[in-house]
Amino acid sequence: MKIAVCRKSHFNAAHRLYNPKWDDQKNEVVFGKCNNPNFHGHNYKIEVWVRGDVDTDTGMVIDMKILKDIIRREIEDRFDHKNLNLDTEEFKQLIPTAENICLVIWKILRDKIEPQLELKVRLFETERNVVECVSNF
Ligand code: NI
Repeated sequence: MKIAVCRKSHFNAAHRLYNPKWDDQKNEVVFGKCNNPNFHGHNYKIEVWVRGDVDTDTGMVIDMKILKDIIRREIEDRFDHKNLNLDTEEFKQLIPTAENICLVIWKILRDKIEPQLELKVRLFETERNVVECVSNF
């Protein structure tokens, strides 16, 4: 029986959705408000779900203190109060949609969490817009 645990976190960041291959009009049509040339912010919330067997020695799937530290170091420190387009390497060439942000976070965390544990990341760009990136859940 595998058990899933979740650590929640959040960060505030600015972005602009813009595809340099398109003219301004097409960018406006496709991305709407998120195309604003002067950027705008979101209060991003994330849920990091880890699923695996409960360790018989610790009674845990993963030590939540360790998970919390990984999220703080790898995600919050990297993205909080940043302009995703201008301040981060990850989105210099990648459009910072909720989908891409969720995938980038998943890839960063996947590298830091033991491979036998399954990983799922949910990103809430607003209360109503949610993206999920998952494998093996
Ligand atoms: Ni936006």
